[in-house]
Amino acid sequence: MAWTRVAAANEVAEGEVVGVTAAGQQIALYRDKAAFFATSNVCTHQYALLSDGYFEDGCIECPLHQGSFDIRTGKAMCAPVTEDIKVYPVRVDGDDLLADI
Ligand code: FES
Repeated sequence: MAWTRVAAANEVAEGEVVGVTAAGQQIALYRDKAAFFATSNVCTHQYALLSDGYFEDGCIECPLHQGSFDIRTGKAMCAPVTEDIKVYPVRVDGDDLLADI
């Protein structure tokens, strides 16, 4: 794993999720109460991008079948998802958002 620039910090607005590709991985970036988080952007149930889903209260809801994941831990929260998503450490470096991918 290596710290990789994934976005400008100001590209991820409060309460929003943004999808990016970095180091060959599809990553979802979140800003929640001024803190940043990063997870895999691909649902573990079928193929759907979580960045197209609904983000609220620290959980991302998949747009395809409404399974949801905790963005802090990656834990699968409700059916039909049963497999957790990967989470990545995130830090801000100046204007940049870095993830350990
Ligand atoms: Fe995400 Fe089915 S593809 S819940």
